[in-house]
Amino acid sequence: MSSKFDPILPLNLILPHPNPNPNSLHLPAGPPAAAKLVITGGNSLSGHVPISGSKNSALAILAATLCCRGDSKLSNVPQLIDTTTMAAVLSSLGAEIEFSGNEVVVRTDRVGSVEPDAGLVGRIRGGFFVVGPLLARFGEAAVGLPGGCDIGARPVDIYVRGLRELGAVVELRDNKLVARAANGRGLVGGRFRLDYPSVGATQTLMMAACLAEGTTLLSNVAGEPEIADLASFLTSAGARVGGVGTDKICIHGTRQLYGTEHTIMPDRIEAGTFMLAAAITRSRISLSPVCPELLSVLIDKLSGAGCTISHVRDELELSAIPRRSGEGLRGFDVRTLPYPGFPTDLQPQTMALLSTCDGLSIVEESVFENRLTHVKELQKFGAKIYTEGSTAFVHRKGRGEKLRGARVDAADLRGGMSLVLAGLAAEGVTQVSRMCNIDRGYESLETKLRSLGADVKRLEKSQSILRS
Ligand code: EPU
Repeated sequence: MSSKFDPILPLNLILPHPNPNPNSLHLPAGPPAAAKLVITGGNSLSGHVPISGSKNSALAILAATLCCRGDSKLSNVPQLIDTTTMAAVLSSLGAEIEFSGNEVVVRTDRVGSVEPDAGLVGRIRGGFFVVGPLLARFGEAAVGLPGGCDIGARPVDIYVRGLRELGAVVELRDNKLVARAANGRGLVGGRFRLDYPSVGATQTLMMAACLAEGTTLLSNVAGEPEIADLASFLTSAGARVGGVGTDKICIHGTRQLYGTEHTIMPDRIEAGTFMLAAAITRSRISLSPVCPELLSVLIDKLSGAGCTISHVRDELELSAIPRRSGEGLRGFDVRTLPYPGFPTDLQPQTMALLSTCDGLSIVEESVFENRLTHVKELQKFGAKIYTEGSTAFVHRKGRGEKLRGARVDAADLRGGMSLVLAGLAAEGVTQVSRMCNIDRGYESLETKLRSLGADVKRLEKSQSILRS
């Protein structure tokens, strides 16, 4: 293994990735891939729902443990397909991972490869983030191209330009990004302006810059709260990071970071999804822990629609119960944007709600090029939605008319979740297939929905209760 200050090994000498050591990888078993969710709709929801740790924050911070010598202990890590896949990516590099409930310990001292298992990296977007830490700590990396939800092209050009600015030679070989520090020692600080505030590129470049020699100034960076959570982990590991929360991040590189303890922030997207579940079923629920200020754009939209929302400390309550009988929620327009704009990760679930609201609502997806595949599935519930390019026009159904249960397919995580929400509000029975896509991002989904009073049941592989 080359270290930061050793001469860089020629790329053909990169050590093959070791097989994960079965004694060091204690992962929770994932759910079966072909499970379906059967929802008997129409129940009102009530009660309290606990919000899990943030998936997207956990993915980046799991990657960041590779920057650190020694053990890192992460708490509030959600048990999801994506986080266990990310743990397996680290394990394929030789890291030792131990899961115990929502706690994960990552030991990186025996990392013996800079080439993670490409099959694993190809399953999730977050797997690709390891390119930053590997390059920074070991001077080289060979990382397969990332996977993740099928919501558009999702290129990595900004990552590549940024890493080159930090002194890396980067090329694409056999569908892998192969990178090494050009000076034969390690990365060097630089200035880089992202053409678009990409979340993953910001996170990857932050991790790389922490171990680069000198100072790095990144501008037009993403401001998503998960960036601040990553910065807080890196700082606690010994990094010097400034400007978080603004559009410029300044990092003074340091020779080493050391394993640390960190609690993953609550998942604002899961919280927003449950708020939308209460709204679409015209119910009242409470949720915690949430950071209401991170959800202010959704809170404003739902309040404007007629919901009553209040919060005390980290507990939020939402009521969509009509104050007068027959009173509906009002539709609203949404344009997805980088934070603090309306989150693209709540767009599909919001569209499901809007299909039950009064008036015409216009939803424009401006972050991802192809994130409207749920529209044709929502139409199976009888939702009146028409699209033009990346814009959807959502009309209210006839007065008193409800969504009807349907047999639908969860092609991606958030789009799939919009179908679950539609199923909760619909009359009759809904069957959502390919739950494996929803299991990537929602921990203990059925348990949480059932505790709120929803009628949901998981069917394994070959079972079906509806005819095609
Ligand atoms: N983009 C480029 N070039 C790049 C990087 C990004 O053109 O080098 C484009 C993308 O194609 C996209 C836009 O920039 O059109 C935004 O992508 P970004 O890089 O910001 O997103 P990401 O890092 O791939 C993360 C989350 C997504 C979330 C987005 C936006 C993780 C693992 N994923 O993705 O989460 O939608 O930020 O907030 O953190 C989800 O949880 O369902 C999910 C898709």
